[in-house]
Amino acid sequence: MFAERARGLRMSGIRKMFDLAGSAAINLGLGEPDFQPPSAVLEAMKKALEEGYNKYGPTGGLLKLREALAEVHSAQADVNAGNVLITVGATEALAMTMQVFINPGEEVLTPDPGFVLFAPHIRLAGGVPVFYSILQKNRFLPSLDELESLITPNTKAMIVNTPSNPTGSVMGRKEIEAVTALAEDHGILLISDEVYDRIVYEGDHHSFLGHTENLVYVNSFSKAFSMTGWRLGYLIAPEKFITTMAKVHYYMVACPPTPAQYAVLNGLLDSGDYLKEMVDEFRRRRDFIVERLNSIRGFHCLSPGGAFYAFPSFNYPVKSEELALRLLKAGVVCSPGSAFGKQGESHLRFSYAASIEMIGEAMDIVDAVTREITSDD
Ligand SMILES: Cc1ncc(COP(=O)(O)O)c(C=O)c1O
Repeated sequence: MFAERARGLRMSGIRKMFDLAGSAAINLGLGEPDFQPPSAVLEAMKKALEEGYNKYGPTGGLLKLREALAEVHSAQADVNAGNVLITVGATEALAMTMQVFINPGEEVLTPDPGFVLFAPHIRLAGGVPVFYSILQKNRFLPSLDELESLITPNTKAMIVNTPSNPTGSVMGRKEIEAVTALAEDHGILLISDEVYDRIVYEGDHHSFLGHTENLVYVNSFSKAFSMTGWRLGYLIAPEKFITTMAKVHYYMVACPPTPAQYAVLNGLLDSGDYLKEMVDEFRRRRDFIVERLNSIRGFHCLSPGGAFYAFPSFNYPVKSEELALRLLKAGVVCSPGSAFGKQGESHLRFSYAASIEMIGEAMDIVDAVTREITSDD
């Protein structure tokens, strides 16, 4: 009954955990900030609803918002409103980009471990995901030698993600330049997911934007303004791409949500110290959870440079799914590393979008459960 492309899809390993979790569990599985949007954004949303901005809007998004985003990114690249397309979250931007560029059988390099939507989006477009590893021993950064070895005449595109979900790793200028040079040498389209660009703990975020013309840059308001439920993101690409992308976007979603665009426009202009306060709080929690994890025997956790995920490796004789299930039974929700790819095995992802107190309680449970496992042997 179902089309092959739908039959081939598996349920995300993260959703599986949610479905099994009881309501009393401490949830460190979430991929969203535990904050509410900035008050300027909430106020603008209410105003937009009351003033009647409840209708379809322009397919590409409100011109004023596209202009404001061009301005936001003008320090990184020569961007104008014609390069910006407002999308239904980064999710639609990524899915639509695959539909626009990938022919059946074409290969797309994608990180392992990597965000759970990347490979399914490639497959839904008929493409073939080719996984490149980002390993703890390499600070979760891609290896150029491996990338080079995976490139074939069939390689069409490469997905990069900095800061990374699930590892929290951030690429520096050097890595970005090296990956861009490789992509340019081989005529590969770069698709850069930078939805965590505002949540970086040390120094400035380095973007792929401005390094090459052969780039689709994807971002979102979900994380920066804690509005995952409003479904608003955007992409930046050369104008010669935008015309075709806008057509596919139109046939998929008609237009992005209108009231939310008015709200984020206000947020871009006037969100005060919101981001700084959010990042300061995440930094405090990051330092806390990393220290706690590293104090538990068998865990090794690098300090993530961005996003809000700790991705420790463990050396217990169990698979990550089993360990996550045991933690779940003991009252902590986290994500098994295997949900993010083969190389994610022997890791867990803990989201620190929860209070320090909750994280502390969760770490006590992790400590107790892992002690039981070590004494089982
Ligand atoms: C790396 C990455 N890209 C994209 C998304 C999707 O974001 P959006 O809510 O804008 O669709 C997420 C959400 O968790 C993510 O982690």
